[in-house]
Amino acid sequence: MIALAVVAALQEASQTRPVDIPVGADLAERAPQRDSLARPLGAAVAVAPARENAPYLRRLVTGFTSVTAENAMKWEALEPREGRFRWPQADAIVDLADGLGKRMRGHTLIWDQQLPGWVREREWDAAGAERLIRDHVRRVAGRYRGRIAQWDVVNEPLDPDGSLTPNLFTAALGERYIDIAFDEARRADPDARLFLNELGSERPSPMQDGLVALVKRLERRGVPIDGIGLQNHANVTNPQSTRQWLATFERFGDLGVDVEITEMDVVIPPKLRTTPARLRTQAKIYADAARACRRTPVCTGLTLWGVTDRFSWLTPQRRPLPYGVDGDAKPAARALMRALEP
Ligand code: G3I
Repeated sequence: MIALAVVAALQEASQTRPVDIPVGADLAERAPQRDSLARPLGAAVAVAPARENAPYLRRLVTGFTSVTAENAMKWEALEPREGRFRWPQADAIVDLADGLGKRMRGHTLIWDQQLPGWVREREWDAAGAERLIRDHVRRVAGRYRGRIAQWDVVNEPLDPDGSLTPNLFTAALGERYIDIAFDEARRADPDARLFLNELGSERPSPMQDGLVALVKRLERRGVPIDGIGLQNHANVTNPQSTRQWLATFERFGDLGVDVEITEMDVVIPPKLRTTPARLRTQAKIYADAARACRRTPVCTGLTLWGVTDRFSWLTPQRRPLPYGVDGDAKPAARALMRALEP
């Protein structure tokens, strides 16, 4: 029993000890300036590969002007046990962005996934759930006040049919859990732009209709929402056209909110070979999204969900990112940069 306690204490200590992501001066000098592209070009980042894999770090530093924490800012990572916080990984990513002059997107304050057990497994009444949400949002958004350009305040609130996903927050508060999260985020960091982040809403769909209807309801209730994050987990077999992008930007722009492409990757299905033609298709999908984004003020940036294929959540076999497993630049890398050149 003592041994287990010691192991647990050592693990806890290792998770609370400060970490950093060392970037040598010569590499740091190659970091593009924050506003050097027509739109911020971001990547979702994890600490371990940034510390342990040189190609990942090199591409992160030199290929992007914006950063999102892939997992480090999620509730299960920050507060695995009630009242016991683990800030070092999130701190390291925010410090890296600051140190290299990159924009920082916060991801994500309230989501019904990747919750710690002590939140997930308890019955919450309305008052308890409101206090839970406000405390968490105030603590996290307050810690990084002034350093986060945009927060994904609420992530993926909808079901594929466009209706609100039933979860522990809706059970206690109904849709008002979203209002509460945004209200507390505005109080905690008045300078951050507050986004609702969703998948499957990049082109006409029941989810896009549901998202538009949700934004209208939130605005009618005076909820301080500034933007919509369209995740855009795409596939070479189903490219989105520039015309479709511009129609989507116009639809959300008509609501008075900004749009950010927040989690782009473009899968090449494992059963398909990596032919030059397929890589060119992947490149065009990335470039079309970037070109459409820069054509309208409504679209404020484009973030990829990862840096190199080796560490993609989709596994390297799906080859979803512009940089291969060893940081090799695919046609998509050059196409993206060309599309966002000032
Ligand atoms: O932290 C544990 C670690 O302790 C354990 O040893 C390891 C092996 O079991 O798992 C680790 O947790 C993993 C976590 O990522 C952190 O690395 C989970 O298993 C894994 O399921 C989780 O996957 C993340 C996924 O969200 C969870 O839903 C992906 O990395 C992350 O890219 C993905 O990102 C989401 C966005 O946040 C929201 N939009 C969709 C997107 C893709 O699912």
